[in-house]
Amino acid sequence: MIPEPAVRAQLPYALRQLDLPALGELYRGKVRDNYSRGDRIVMVTTDRVSAFDHVLGTIPFKGEVLSRLTNFWFDKVKDIAPTHLLDTPDPSVMVVKRAKALPVEIVIRGYITGSLWRDYQAGKAGAYGIAWPAGLKKDQRFDEAVITPSTKAEYGKHDEPISEAEILRQGLVAPEVWREATAVARRLFQRGQEWALSRGLILVDTKYEMGVADGKLLVIDEIHTPDSSRYWVADGCADRFARGVEQEMLDKENIRQWLIKEHGFSGHGKPPPLSEDVRVMLAMKYIEAFERLTGQKFESDVGSVAGRIERNLRAKGYL
Ligand SMILES: Nc1ncnc2c1ncn2[C@@H]1O[C@H](COP(=O)(O)OP(=O)(O)OP(=O)(O)O)[C@@H](O)[C@H]1O
Ligand SMILES: [Mg+2]
Repeated sequence: MIPEPAVRAQLPYALRQLDLPALGELYRGKVRDNYSRGDRIVMVTTDRVSAFDHVLGTIPFKGEVLSRLTNFWFDKVKDIAPTHLLDTPDPSVMVVKRAKALPVEIVIRGYITGSLWRDYQAGKAGAYGIAWPAGLKKDQRFDEAVITPSTKAEYGKHDEPISEAEILRQGLVAPEVWREATAVARRLFQRGQEWALSRGLILVDTKYEMGVADGKLLVIDEIHTPDSSRYWVADGCADRFARGVEQEMLDKENIRQWLIKEHGFSGHGKPPPLSEDVRVMLAMKYIEAFERLTGQKFESDVGSVAGRIERNLRAKGYL
């Protein structure tokens, strides 16, 4: 693992945003700076971190970890469904095929935890149109993975839970596209869970975005990253569940818990600033997730990410 002092040294270089208007029209999401031109997007994964739909700050090396992990996973699932990936000119950049994104995100869960657990406990999990059994325990495994879709909110708004019936009734997604998208999601999730387990991790839940391009359904955005997924350490998981203690997490729940427990922040008002120690701690978690999942060592140079990206894009003819 990259030593902690190197991660600390990278703090001032963490990539907040990349301004390269020559790449095309900019859409700045919470995490990615997306430059589109024609039917392709140059998707730059910055080091921004968001939680509860707020951008909180930056985490050194996070963009590179997420982009490299998505590449890794796209390769692992390429027999299941086509993805939007066209080229990887830099470890933090993917050039992708632009698709018409479905207006709903496909969230799939193997366990009841996180926001679903919070909603279930508060009696607010009905919006998914699923008849939840009574008496579920926190972190309990579902017999079969459950899809809890959410609408893709515009910037600054929160994603909302929605049921399959409502998606179809409102015509948000055509029935045959929805059928295909959910079937693909189930196969991706199963593949992800199998691989993760072979690496000692449990893929607890994840979120897929899909889109249509040239009449074909594509997997877009990122997959199976610690931003879009929840991972637990498999070793001792059943025992921790039986004892009713927290699972060992390698995902963004770390930051959500820090916000809730240390700062009472769960999405309302102004988010607290991230200290340097927390930024380093979270960076180490992202890197650990990368190394555990891929079995590869994470190596990267301390220095300007923006400069490196610009050089790589120039060398490969994108600028
Ligand atoms: N191949 C693609 N074609 C079109 N849009 C895509 C594609 N892949 C990803 N996207 C969109 O690009 C954006 C990626 O940026 P990012 O992940 O930072 O956004 P976000 O903050 O998660 O979401 P939002 O855009 O809703 O704020 C998302 O809006 C995602 O839906
Ligand atoms: Mg996103």
